[in-house]
Amino acid sequence: MIKIAPSVLSADFSNLAEALRPVASADYLHVDIMDGLFVPNISLGFPVLAGIRKATSLPLDVHLMVDRPVRYVERFCDAGAAIVTVHVEADTPENTHTALDKIHAKGKRAGVVVKPKTPAEAVLPFLDKCDIVLVMTVEPGFGGQKFMADMMPKVSQIRRWIDERKPGCELEVDGGVAPGTCRTCIDAGANVLVAGSAVFGAEDIPGRIAALRGGV
Ligand code: DX5
Ligand code: ZN
Repeated sequence: MIKIAPSVLSADFSNLAEALRPVASADYLHVDIMDGLFVPNISLGFPVLAGIRKATSLPLDVHLMVDRPVRYVERFCDAGAAIVTVHVEADTPENTHTALDKIHAKGKRAGVVVKPKTPAEAVLPFLDKCDIVLVMTVEPGFGGQKFMADMMPKVSQIRRWIDERKPGCELEVDGGVAPGTCRTCIDAGANVLVAGSAVFGAEDIPGRIAALRGGV
């Protein structure tokens, strides 16, 4: 089953509760946290996440684009995350393991993220601890960028490793996922599709969610 995770970054923050109503048929709500250091942009923090938590009943999939996220993962769990993912590029392997352990100790789901230039192999040391692996299909930092189709071999490779070593782990793609690009992600083995502009910019949001889930 393909899951759709609308990215709240593309939602209208002037009335979030209203903006989130049409995405109720999605599977997760993807929340991008940017610290202005790990990526050249700043998005939102704990109070807004707690507000989002109240505005939707969707599980919150919190993508931390934050330097040394081990410092903050527990607070994101407490603020309402169901899933917390951390970038492998954001800290030492030891601290990334600690971050995953801390998320699990809070009873939440944990995973790692790889940027476009990071090879598939970078997820392997963490795969045993991952409930989800996220492959970026744009450079992290901004919504509305062009999908990088050349990430698909990486998605396929990680899908093979998941099937061999960690069945049940989800495989998510993020960036530029839209009607013209969702099918290739599904075919490469992704089962969770993040989509920001393609969902919140759609005329018929529930219809777009259903279409993306079907690969169209
Ligand atoms: C980019 C973020 C994405 C972004 C996706 O750094 O991680 O989640 O919101 O937006 P679209 O789907 O518009 O590329
Ligand atoms: Zn994201």
